[in-house]
Amino acid sequence: MISDAAAASRIFVTRNWYVGAMSAELRDKPLGRLICGQRIVFFRDPDGRPQAVSAVCPHRGADLGRGRVIGDSVECPFHGLRFNGGGACTRIPSQDAEAPIPRALRVPSYAVVEQGGMVWIWPEPNDTPTRAPEVPEVLGLKAPWRVRLLPEGRLSAGSYLNTMENALDDAHLAFVHKATVPGASERVAPFRITVDEDRRGYGGVATMAEIIAETPAVADVATGSGGLLDFIGRFAFESLKPVEKAYHYRMSGFVLITTTDASGPRDYTFAFFTPGDAERSWLFGGIARNHSLNFVAERLLERYMPALTAEDAKILGELVPEARGPGGLPNPFVIRADRQSFPFRRLYGDALAAEGKPVPWALDGAGAGAATGSGAATGAATGDAAEAVTAVAGR
Ligand code: FES
Ligand SMILES: [Fe+2]
Repeated sequence: MISDAAAASRIFVTRNWYVGAMSAELRDKPLGRLICGQRIVFFRDPDGRPQAVSAVCPHRGADLGRGRVIGDSVECPFHGLRFNGGGACTRIPSQDAEAPIPRALRVPSYAVVEQGGMVWIWPEPNDTPTRAPEVPEVLGLKAPWRVRLLPEGRLSAGSYLNTMENALDDAHLAFVHKATVPGASERVAPFRITVDEDRRGYGGVATMAEIIAETPAVADVATGSGGLLDFIGRFAFESLKPVEKAYHYRMSGFVLITTTDASGPRDYTFAFFTPGDAERSWLFGGIARNHSLNFVAERLLERYMPALTAEDAKILGELVPEARGPGGLPNPFVIRADRQSFPFRRLYGDALAAEGKPVPWALDGAGAGAATGSGAATGAATGDAAEAVTAVAGR
């Protein structure tokens, strides 16, 4: 059982904190989740503290996520074996209560921490975390900010690589989200990318002047196109004048998109992505804002994120089968717009390598396309991505 989980998790960085559940999702019942290729069951102990162990019952393989919580243990629905948060078997109902329970009868257990309204998991079985979860400040914002969290995690199509790179990719907006983001430009703004000092994340920033210069369609939207949608948008979202846009990614799967007005930040769209299995990822997330705190905006925002993520899951789930896996398309052709998302594979690849795990994508140059020479014809375009990758590589 342990070796199966270990094999399944070899394609993910597991010595790392990810969001496993929203606090509100974890009540008095076990919550089964597929995380980093492992079936995990979360439950609360009698003190209300979250626990997580493998959901695969070592007796006959029933799913502990379908059992119930009794005291400090989760009870298997098949023959009633119970396991506590440390993974030890606490009861075998079919034998005398005095009969010893074999020490080897255990399930792998996982470190969990509850903070910021979320249950964080370190999905390396039987391991001691080497640092604390990174709970972003956006989760603790107080009035006049309003923070709206998606009520539950969602497991959607999209390998972790494809999902993360998609979250940092603006070039798909005008196509995949045509209906949801009507003003999205086909062009991509010239974000200045910098890697965090600890090399566990990176970000990009661009001023609105730069964005409009590069993506003229944004200016059209800013001046208004008329019509009902435009009217509702103006009423709901006041007249906002962004001066800067930024995005930031962290190794915890956290993606933060910040819009800033002349007076300071005014909204954050954020997501936490957690690897599910080879072709699916979890999404947790929300929106924080200090403007447009009206009912119409609230309703529109509530629908906005689920609509966007459903569109993303559709395109990622419908990639050709050979591109859906953990390494994405083998030999992807890298274009200029990819400089925004491409550093992700460098940093996550470094983290995989640090755990002694195989990296399922090329790390050098602007992807294998450029490396094999197939990108040479578009020198300028791939050169830009290569530059971003080289900057991340630190050489
Ligand atoms: S399968 Fe779990 S107790 Fe038998
Ligand atoms: Fe998207």
